[in-house]
This record gives sequence, C-alpha cells and structure tokens, in this order.
Amino acid sequence: MRCRKCKARAVIYMRQHRLALCKDHFLEWFVKYTQETIRRYRMFTRQDRILVAVSGGKDSLALWDVLWQLGYQADGLYIGLGIDGGIQYSDRSRSLVEAFARERGLKLIVEDVREAYGEGIPEMARRSRRGRGKPCSVCGLVKRHIMNRVAREQGYTVLATGHNLDDEVAVLFGNVMTWQVGYLARQGPVLPERDGLVRKVKPLVRFYERETAAYALLRGIRYIYDECPFAQGATSIYYKELLNKLEESRPGAKLQFYLGFLRAKEQGAFAHIQEQAEEALHACEVCGQPTTAPGMCAFCRLTAPLRVSLNPPVSA
Ligand code: AMP
Ligand code: FES
Ligand code: ZN
Ligand code: ZN
Repeated sequence: MRCRKCKARAVIYMRQHRLALCKDHFLEWFVKYTQETIRRYRMFTRQDRILVAVSGGKDSLALWDVLWQLGYQADGLYIGLGIDGGIQYSDRSRSLVEAFARERGLKLIVEDVREAYGEGIPEMARRSRRGRGKPCSVCGLVKRHIMNRVAREQGYTVLATGHNLDDEVAVLFGNVMTWQVGYLARQGPVLPERDGLVRKVKPLVRFYERETAAYALLRGIRYIYDECPFAQGATSIYYKELLNKLEESRPGAKLQFYLGFLRAKEQGAFAHIQEQAEEALHACEVCGQPTTAPGMCAFCRLTAPLRVSLNPPVSA
C-alpha cells in the first residue's frame, strides 16, 4: 500500500478514514489532527498552563510529545501508585517517564503515594470497602484527587489525560448498557472547570489505540507495554474486545458511535439531565478539595488512619 500524500511505502492504513500514510506523513497527520481536536472542542489555548498526567503508557507519553511539538506550555505529572504485581509496574513506569522528560528537557512533577502516605494502592485497597477491596476503584479516586490538587496548588489551568477513542468508547458503551444518564451527561472530551475542579481535557479521543501505539513506536518513545496487573478481567477490557469485533466487520463503527454521541450531546440530548447531575460541591473540611457530600472527601476518609500515624499527636 502507498502513502496517499507521497506514494512512498505506507506504514499504516486507517480504514475508518480510508487513509494510508508513510511514516513521516503519519507523524505529521497525527500532530495536526490532535491540534484540530484541541480547537474543535475548545480544549485550551497557548495562554493556558497545561498539566499532562503521564502514566508511562503509550497514550499519555504520545500526548505529552505532541503538545511539546506544538509548543504548548505543558508540564508532566507522574503519580507513583506503589504497584508491583511481580513486574515492578510502578517503578518501571516511573523510570520511563523520567527518562522521557529528561531527554526533552521537560518539567516533570512526581507524586509518590507510598512516600506521601506510607501505603501504596494495593494496601489502601485492602483496607477499603470501596469497590470491595478492588484496587482500580481506590486507584481512580487517589489519582483524581492528586491530579486536581497538584493542578490547583501549582497554578495549572488545564489537566490533560491520554484517554484514546477505545477507552472512551468502552466507557460510553458501559454507560449505555446500564443507562447511567448522569454519567452520559458528563462524559466528553472536555469537563469544564467548576467549584475548585480544574478543567479536564482528552486531546487524543479521536484516535484509535492502534494509532497512538503507532505514533509512540514511530517516534521512538520508550513506554511500558504491560497493562496494570490489576486490570486483568476488568469489564472495560471485555467491552473493548466486543467493540473490536464490531469494528472488524464495520470499520469506523467505534468512531461513529462516539462522534454521534457527542453530536447528540451538542444538540442538547442530555441538557436537562446535565443540570440535575450537577450536584453542588462543598470544600472538604480537611483538604479543601471539592466533594459532593459535606464534611470529609472520600480521599481524606481513605487516608485518615494514615494521617494519624504519619503525624502523631504531639504530647505535652
Ligand atoms: P487509565 O485510567 O490507566 O486508563 O489512564 C488514563 C489516563 O490517566 C492516562 O492516559 C494518563 O493520562 C492518566 N494516568 C493514569 N495513570 C497515571 C499515573 N500513575 N500518573 C499520572 N497519570 C496517570
Ligand atoms: Fe490503578 Fe491499575 S492503574 S489499579
Ligand atoms: Zn508520505
Ligand atoms: Zn479531603
């Protein structure tokens, strides 16, 4: 197959766009298409200070690389989750992110959960009733809390994550299967800033996972190939497999499903639900971060026993 632009040998064929490209034209297309997504959904401008949440995986490192090439003010945030799983998952991903930042002279902020609280995600999950001890739910809570805290404390106006189309479509499919209309009303490439929650954006939402992987490989980005050891058997992986089967017989089905949803949203399909779903937020009485229930936020409840042992009361 030949590149549509220069007729050189193509390295990728994207069936949903009927587009074959050589290495150089694919890399150029990937950067331009990301910029178009940023503009199309009004994600941010050159004036914004962007914090990119980087896990060490292909998507978030590809995102940071693209934003850097486009000349945005984008610093990185890596959260050490203390997950080993027999493959030194967290340690290896941290080294890869640090090497990436060093090689490009980019600023990286590292927050290590075990260093800060004395426990990694697996231990926190064992103690918690949240998700019946399942690490992913606790992990999501901790990551969201730290991302928002760091962004606010350090004056970032936008938080960017590496979610790709496959991730978003799996979430959308799950939300439709269970008719979680509140979640559907809030799902999208941009979550606006409100009441102490920094704006969240997903500039890679229009790329299939194979495209972000191709970009990372062709750019020579070293990333962690392994999935998180706790991800095995997750429903989202099952949904991804189902959706891949659909995509095989109907190329472009995933993109259509997602873009159709966003169009319906823009036309107001979920407008009344959105209003109802916008629960008032209160400042957590311990950390000051926004929370739906008055009092302590879920993160502070989770880490309360650890705070006591980290800061023993001073005796007279
Ligand atoms: P996941 O929830 O693992 O699918 O990751 C979704 C996005 O969250 C990634 O693309 C990253 O932007 C961000 N992320 C996940 N894990 C971390 C981490 N340990 N540190 C910083 N950002 C992360
Ligand atoms: Fe959080 Fe796997 S990355 S539990
Ligand atoms: Zn070409
Ligand atoms: Zn709190």
